[in-house]
Amino acid sequence: MKLLKSKKNNLNNIYFGNKYKNLVKLIKNYNFLLFDYNIYFLFFNKFKKIFNNFKYIIIPYNEKYKNIKSLKIILKFMLKKKINKNNKIYCIGGGVLNDITGIISSIYFRNINYINLPTTLLSQVDSSIGGKNSINFYSKNSIGNIYFPLYIYINISIIYYMKKLEFKDGYAEIIKYSLINNFSFFFYIFKKNNIEKIIFYSCYIKSKIISQDYYEKNYRSSLNFGHTYGHSIENNIIKKYSHGTSIIIGMIFSIFISDIFYYYNKKVLLKIIKLFNYFNFDIKNNIKFNKKMFNKILLDKKFIKNINFILLKKIGFCIQKILKKKKLLKLIKIFYEI
Ligand SMILES: NC(=O)c1ccc[n+]([C@@H]2O[C@H](COP(=O)([O-])OP(=O)(O)OC[C@H]3O[C@@H](n4cnc5c(N)ncnc54)[C@H](O)[C@@H]3O)[C@@H](O)[C@H]2O)c1
Repeated sequence: MKLLKSKKNNLNNIYFGNKYKNLVKLIKNYNFLLFDYNIYFLFFNKFKKIFNNFKYIIIPYNEKYKNIKSLKIILKFMLKKKINKNNKIYCIGGGVLNDITGIISSIYFRNINYINLPTTLLSQVDSSIGGKNSINFYSKNSIGNIYFPLYIYINISIIYYMKKLEFKDGYAEIIKYSLINNFSFFFYIFKKNNIEKIIFYSCYIKSKIISQDYYEKNYRSSLNFGHTYGHSIENNIIKKYSHGTSIIIGMIFSIFISDIFYYYNKKVLLKIIKLFNYFNFDIKNNIKFNKKMFNKILLDKKFIKNINFILLKKIGFCIQKILKKKKLLKLIKIFYEI
């Protein structure tokens, strides 16, 4: 088992392996397991052998369950089953479940330890790491907190059970890491063939960024590259875009603004577009920008009077830029005219 150790207080330790059996060394006590619906049906028997002593709940998959109602149901069930502070909570699922479990664990009896066993590519490279947890309440991820898991265990082999299309959501974040932080990783992912290395390196980059700013006071916000605009189109009424495609379109918008400020070389732009195409992203963005989407941007947590936009100075290097509401609206208009 490989360990990516966090720099401070073991806040972000990540184990990597190919078998859940490895977990046995790490499991203690009596546990409470939160299962993603699909994972439960695929792997319950496997987990039954690993966790001898446990209670569990099955959570329906899907973004629409990432809400207050789900929290109430789970918390009530935990009280009924007498889960206490000596128990550990295990989250076995993708990003939706990671977000829900993080919040539950941070508020149940004021807080209780939890462990993430991410099962989708997106959750392995992104949502399970860094302790950010949220639910949707009128807007995407509007309610939440930062509460770190005790550790994360990434079993790379479980992602091969995912639907092919869902890989894209993970790849969007992987591409993001390379663009904001690492020039050579950007070229490495063109090879696409060593997913284990790609996952490990993505986790390494995310952990490195977080270790410099655990509670998002400043530097950690670079991870939001492409997300402000991306979230505004994620649940568009005209066409439903997946998280990955929305983030890619969000990144294209940020790159477009970056180009206005930092004048890119055409070759650089072509190279970035080539990578997006390489992963078959539908980057045409044929939706018309509307007021509702702009209001979503204004509702973004990062918007106060101005918005802190993450721009790309060059491949592997990003920068924060404060944009006024008026300026952002003007840039959106220019973006849609081209
Ligand atoms: N907290 C964070 O830092 C953070 C970061 C990025 C994304 N997110 C959140 O993550 C969520 C998206 O996560 P996701 O893409 O993992 O989606 P998801 O959790 O909804 O899982 C996608 C689907 O895959 C199924 N599934 C999970 N693992 C599987 C496996 N191994 N084999 C077969 N099917 C499997 C699930 O049942 C579900 O149907 C969004 O809500 C997003 O906001 C959070």
